[in-house]
Amino acid sequence: MQFFIDTANVDEIRQANDMGLVDGVTTNPSLIAQTGRPFKEVIAEICEIIDGPISAEAVSLTYDEMLVEARDLAKIHKNIVVKIPLVADGLKCVRTCAAEGIKTNVTLCFSATQALLAAKAGATYISPFVGRLDDISFQGMDLIGEILEIYSAYDFDTQVLVASIRNPLHVLESARMGAHVATIPLKVMLQLIKHPLTDRGIEGFMKDWEKVPK
Ligand code: G3P
Repeated sequence: MQFFIDTANVDEIRQANDMGLVDGVTTNPSLIAQTGRPFKEVIAEICEIIDGPISAEAVSLTYDEMLVEARDLAKIHKNIVVKIPLVADGLKCVRTCAAEGIKTNVTLCFSATQALLAAKAGATYISPFVGRLDDISFQGMDLIGEILEIYSAYDFDTQVLVASIRNPLHVLESARMGAHVATIPLKVMLQLIKHPLTDRGIEGFMKDWEKVPK
């Protein structure tokens, strides 16, 4: 399973990348806003740090405007993946992008049938938001299972990118189900590292090391 980091903060990206945990990056308008920096400047800097797929989101809602944005974003760097919302104009834009060789990440997916449509339109990635489903008492991870089942039944090339990950169990379940990618906030990556027995083990070894004649 590939690890993407879900942030636009370049310090966080560098920190995770130094541990070898970053195959790609996903951003969204909210994450860009948190940086307080201009959109394209941040995206270009991320592309310099990480040699992998970098998702940059289109913010228009009509086909024509989305396509202009998608083409414009794709020019920033060869690794740009244009994030497009799962609406009718978005699917149309995904189809055109696929024909033009522009990679897409279809975002704000909350049902398996939406994911089926994204695959048929030619999306490179589908982003089901598991945390936001959990927030409204739906099992977000059940959706991942359904999408993987459908995609494998028809050999779709679209990759399942588990998004809106909020905790280590989302990552564990994604890996067990065979999701292609998990996009993970730095906080959750750091939680994945921690284990109390690792800390206790280090403490014990350090204490015993003091007893070794030097
Ligand atoms: O990549 C989408 C993700 O950032 C959404 O996460 O926590 O805002 O639901 P969240």
